[in-house]
Amino acid sequence: MSSPNSIVRFRRLRRTTNLRQLMREHVFSLDDLIMPVFVEENISERVAIESMPGIYRYPETQLTDYVRSLWHKGIKAILLFGISHQKDKEGSDTWNPQGLMARMIRITKTAAPQMLVISDNCFCEYTLNSHCGTTGNREVDNDKTLANLQKQVVVAAQAGVDMIAPSGMVDGMVAAIRTALDAEGFTHIPIMSYSSKFSSSFYGPFRDAVDSSFKGTRDAYQIDCANAREAIAESLQDDAEGADILMVKPGMAYLDILYRIREASLKPLAVYQVSGEYSMIKLAAAAGVLDERAVITETLLAFKRAGANLIISYFAEAIAEWNKP
Ligand code: PBG
Ligand code: ZN
Repeated sequence: MSSPNSIVRFRRLRRTTNLRQLMREHVFSLDDLIMPVFVEENISERVAIESMPGIYRYPETQLTDYVRSLWHKGIKAILLFGISHQKDKEGSDTWNPQGLMARMIRITKTAAPQMLVISDNCFCEYTLNSHCGTTGNREVDNDKTLANLQKQVVVAAQAGVDMIAPSGMVDGMVAAIRTALDAEGFTHIPIMSYSSKFSSSFYGPFRDAVDSSFKGTRDAYQIDCANAREAIAESLQDDAEGADILMVKPGMAYLDILYRIREASLKPLAVYQVSGEYSMIKLAAAAGVLDERAVITETLLAFKRAGANLIISYFAEAIAEWNKP
């Protein structure tokens, strides 16, 4: 048996709350959080998303009030998703200056001018087959989608968006978007790329959220969940193309990827705690199996520990409410 003074005593710094707080290596605050917001056209009341308790699809008529309420709770950044009723083969509503994407940007910026408004730039909520781009003969046509994405982001910028967040895993999307924005004088608008986005079953409840009839797979453009090296290469490519912020999505099951990208790039890094992660915690807490607040805190600290700087989470609004006096 070792003598008392040869024992290395980690417990020395864990004895009291004050000591433990002094020793804390990571924190998160509302400064780091981005709240996703779902907006559906042609509805008059908000619709509860059954698979995501506490999350709603908002009509445009209630968007002003909702965004102001988020701002007053202390939310400083939102990520907009539109649920279109004007779907076509290409998702052309996304580059219509009177389309849903442009309208929801204008409404939110007018409602809360200081709120950082980010658009999720993709096509899946606007195409008839719900793919993240325009479908050619059989597959999603990468390069045609790039051209459409360029039109979409210019319209979003003209509508007043603060940040562009392309989520379609289109090869070359960051370079194409940067070129299009710069050509129209939007050199100041940053791009937060969904740079390492996996083809994940954790997106299940999101499909419910966006009312997607999508039964297919995005395996042909999102990353295989078995692949780490490829995921690093994806983010480094977007870094090289000029992405201002990189992203890993989903979060909890991909902390190794977060950590490795944090080591490989000097760009700010975002993580997306996706719908399935949200629902797992909400449903387990509702069943009395998990302590909701403690588990949420633990997951966000894990993201920070792994190297995330920004966190996109459906819990952001609830966390803002925790801080209420
Ligand atoms: C689609 C998109 C998805 C999410 C954000 N943008 C779903 C998908 O790729 O099928 C997932 C968000 C979530 O699950 O919370 N471009
Ligand atoms: Zn998409």
